[in-house]
Order: sequence, then C-alpha cells, then structure tokens
Amino acid sequence: MKQRRRIYEGKAKILYEGPEPGTLIQHFKDDATAYNAAKHDVIEGKGVLNNRISEHIFTALNRMGIPTHFIKRVNMREQLIREVEIIPVEIVVRNIAAGSLSQRLGIDEGTVLPRSIIEFYYKSDSLGDPLVSEEHVTAFGWANPQEIDDMMALAIRVNDFLSGLFLGIGIQLVDFKIECGRLFENDMMRIVVADEISPDSCRLWDIGSNEKLDKDRFRRDMGGLVEAYTEVARRLGIMNENE
Ligand code: C5P
Repeated sequence: MKQRRRIYEGKAKILYEGPEPGTLIQHFKDDATAYNAAKHDVIEGKGVLNNRISEHIFTALNRMGIPTHFIKRVNMREQLIREVEIIPVEIVVRNIAAGSLSQRLGIDEGTVLPRSIIEFYYKSDSLGDPLVSEEHVTAFGWANPQEIDDMMALAIRVNDFLSGLFLGIGIQLVDFKIECGRLFENDMMRIVVADEISPDSCRLWDIGSNEKLDKDRFRRDMGGLVEAYTEVARRLGIMNENE
C-alpha cells in the first residue's frame, strides 16, 4: 500500500494527506485519554464507533446547512474531510451541570442550568486546555470578534440540533465540545465545525436511568464504554450494516 503522509497525530486521531488538494483523511484510533493524557488506555472498537457516530452527526449538520469540514466516511476508521485551519479554542456548550463546571463552581452534577452556557478553552496540551474568556481569545489573536460570533452561532445551532436528535432517542445532551476551523474556498473564508462529535466529546445520559453513555465511563473507571457507545449508535439507527 502506498505510504501516506501523516500531517498530524493527536491523542485519539491521526490526519493524513488527502487524495485531492485541500482534503485530508481523518483516522480514528482506539486510544482513550483523560485528564490531559495522564490517564491512557486502548479500547478496542472505540475508533470504529466514533467514526460512525461522528459521520452520522456531521452528515445531518451538513444537510441542515450547518457548515462542517466533513465530506464522507471512507472506511471503518477513516473519513474524508476538508482541510481547515483549526482555531486553537475549544467551545463547550452546557445544558446541565457536570464535569469541570460542577467541580469549579460547586454546582451539583445534574442541575439543569437556567440557560445554556458557552465556554472557551485554549487548546494547549502543555497548559491542560485552560478555561479562557472572549477577552483572552481576541487579545492573544486566537480568533477575532467576528470569528467568535460565528463560532458561538455554530455552537448554538449544533446544541439545538443535537439536543433534539438525542431527546428523540431517549438521551439527554448534558454538554459537548466542538472545534471550529477556517475553511478557505474561492478567495473566501468561513468558519466551519471541524474535528469530531461523538460520545468522546459529549456527555450523554439515558433519560430513564441516567446511565452515562459517554467517555465519563472511561474517566471514572466505570467500564462498559464500548457497550455504551454501541448503544448510542444503535439508537441512532447506525451500525446495522455488516462492515
Ligand atoms: O470536562 P468538562 O466538564 O469541561 O467537559 C465538558 C464537555 O466537553 C464534555 O462533554 C467533554 O467530553 C468535552 N470535552 C472534550 N475535550 C476536551 C475537554 C472537554 O471533548 N479536551
């Protein structure tokens, strides 16, 4: 097989050069990390599940006119995507208190928030992705005010869509993270949703039982991660084909 040029390797994914200029191949690994990679494991089957679940979500976002980097899934572990310039800011949207919000502010996990909250985190492994304000984002030139507006608008649209999608299959969307990128096309630049959206990047609770169907199963040593992700995929109506 032809050797592909590896552009970037992250904790859970690898980016390879794509078949056409301006495209990349996004490869999903089985690696799971938490607490800024202090905790690491390989969970067989996770990459395949995230590839399928993220494909399902990004295809729907594209159909709804929410711009993303996603073109198509090409095999069990890989997708064809548009090359974007990743903005080094993670956008987290929260509907229910959990995780670092509960820890930082002492709000009981499971408390329904009076309104959805958007937060920014600076993408930096060495600093452990610190929480930052819009002021930091603009002052340090990570994104300009228009780009922040665009990212927030995308995050709100994704939240509305995902909340409804998961509610329809008996799952509460507690919170999630997205990454955005600058897509350059025909002398134009626009901000699109990039990276992945999967149970690695969302908190998903079963509505009947409150069972966690997301990466907290790994973070909190609960076990049953592949079973939980498979359940999410099953309810979304994917993973039925023999591949
Ligand atoms: O840990 P925290 O409560 O801040 O996470 C909020 C949401 O963002 C969770 O759904 C988590 O899975 C996601 N997240 C992520 N990648 C990070 C940090 C958080 O996907 N580096």
